[in-house]
Amino acid sequence: MYDKKEVLETMRSVALECGKIIRSAKEEHVAAAEKTDFRNLVTAYDIKVQETAVALLKAKYPSASFFCEENDEQDDLKAECVFIIDPIDGTANFANHMNMSCISIGCFMNGVPTCAAVYDPYADELYSAAKGLGAALNGRPIHVTDAPLEHTLVMFGTAPYNLDKAERTFEKLKYIFPKCMDVRRRGSAEIDFCTVACGRAGLFFEEVLSLWDFAAGMLILEEAGGEAYTMMGTPLPLDGRKSNVVAGPRHCIEESGLLRDFHDDDMII
Ligand code: IPD
Ligand code: CA
Ligand code: CA
Repeated sequence: MYDKKEVLETMRSVALECGKIIRSAKEEHVAAAEKTDFRNLVTAYDIKVQETAVALLKAKYPSASFFCEENDEQDDLKAECVFIIDPIDGTANFANHMNMSCISIGCFMNGVPTCAAVYDPYADELYSAAKGLGAALNGRPIHVTDAPLEHTLVMFGTAPYNLDKAERTFEKLKYIFPKCMDVRRRGSAEIDFCTVACGRAGLFFEEVLSLWDFAAGMLILEEAGGEAYTMMGTPLPLDGRKSNVVAGPRHCIEESGLLRDFHDDDMII
């Protein structure tokens, strides 16, 4: 039996520890290897951060399961307690010294998103949430915005590893641009979710995300009063499949028209 408050506390301290490793690369040349192509990179830091996070969590919870981006550590997502880890979300930013990346740890208990921690070590911002207990930024409760979409910024991702989706991305961007204050491309999907969760932006959308790109951010957003859907308007898949996403407070999703005016029906892959 896992106590979610205690698990969350552990995840928060692991995220802070991993953040130190990410920041320690600040001045250094970071060599990057290609995964599927020249855009999809992995660095020694992605591996080191993941190994550190797994080791620290295993030391505390020896029977927990893991579903991680690097190196195929992908256990059963319906396990009693599974940690979903993206060691560096925003690897392209990281490899280019953009100082806009985070460590993301989600936790599902018996298939239910239960705890989440996302840490941006450059801004020293730790977002966290536990199911039913609300979401926080550096310990202070956060909430999505009440403002109409036209008074908010819209975050988007380019699904850079799926170029076949570029046309859809930019069609949607062109469609939404006149309906909001402006658009932003941050380069880290988990930070995008958190940015909406704390009310700094009104909406986030992207055409392809993996589970580790949204497992933590989705819970933080929901606990902050927001919602996240596939572009078909269905719940995001929690079984390891990739999906597109539109996320924000309900009124911004509705005002965006994305679920009404685009009919993508093939977006869980
Ligand atoms: C990527 C980032 C990026 C998003 C991509 C993700 P990675 O994750 O979140 O913002 O556009 O879809 O894959 O590869 O840097 O961990
Ligand atoms: Ca990622
Ligand atoms: Ca990553």
